Amino acid sequence: MKGAVLGAGPVLAAGCNSNQAITNPATSQAQQIDTLWWAMFAGAMVVFAVVLFLLVLAFVRRRKQPDHDERGPYMVVIGGGFVAPVVLLAVLFGFVVHVMPAVSTPSHGSTKQTVVVIAHDWFWEVRYPGTGVVTANEIHLPAGTPVEVAVRSDDVIHSFWVPRLNRKIDTIPGQTNRILIDAPTPGVYRGQCSEFCGVGHALMAFDVIVQPPAAFRAWLAGQERTAAAQASGTAAPGMQVFQAAGCGNCHTIRGTSAAGGVGPDLTHVGSRPTLGAGALENNLGTLASWIADPQAVKPGNDMPRIPMTGDEAQALAEYLSALR
Ligand code: CUA
Repeated sequence: MKGAVLGAGPVLAAGCNSNQAITNPATSQAQQIDTLWWAMFAGAMVVFAVVLFLLVLAFVRRRKQPDHDERGPYMVVIGGGFVAPVVLLAVLFGFVVHVMPAVSTPSHGSTKQTVVVIAHDWFWEVRYPGTGVVTANEIHLPAGTPVEVAVRSDDVIHSFWVPRLNRKIDTIPGQTNRILIDAPTPGVYRGQCSEFCGVGHALMAFDVIVQPPAAFRAWLAGQERTAAAQASGTAAPGMQVFQAAGCGNCHTIRGTSAAGGVGPDLTHVGSRPTLGAGALENNLGTLASWIADPQAVKPGNDMPRIPMTGDEAQALAEYLSALR
């Protein structure tokens, strides 16, 4: 019974995915948030238990003769309605104030690495200042390195949240907000938009891929190169489909004439873990089905269904898959 009660909190908080749970912290900041969460949960449980107890007491007492002591009910109202809430809320407020410095905005210049994240309806654009690298829905970070993530929005208010790494932070049009991510251990941590932003809100996830510093630098160097030259040979017919269908009006592939800015940069799309901001795993089959009918996968997104034959969609998928 105790296990069931204690287990309910993490399950509700996690949405059944332990890689996106505040109760599974992977940084010291998330650890403090986790402790705060349990303190608040315990406080709520105490209040719940007391209220239930009083409710049962009221039912039991109702059947007895009413006593005429006026002081009892008076003390219940003063104690339960004023003193107890003030004490409990003051303790929890003190806890929040204690945790705030750890999760506050990093002071300027205190981090060696900055990553810029721009939220769009409904995907995440990721830039690495000082390089030409632009990715989507995947944020690579070096392990053991404090990183400032500067977030902003291209359209409406979204909220950037990687529960295992730090608190959530809103992305607001015309404003840049900053948050520290300092993950000591390599791994993949799932993030999700946590502010309702339209019909695609639930399909606005991303992966934070924390790598050993040397692997991170190698990845960044690889992303700086254009992948377009690799898309020759079997991928060449697909490249022609891409150009003929006008995909470059909305997407950029560095090293080609495609320079659109509406949808995600596709320079290395073949190497990404997911499509449509976590809507699909990324492989040849899912690429082809996304191209065939993007609205069926993620209703409301900006990508229209472009009329093409099955062979053309397959060739296009092969081309994009080769962009690594
Ligand atoms: Cu973006 Cu919800």
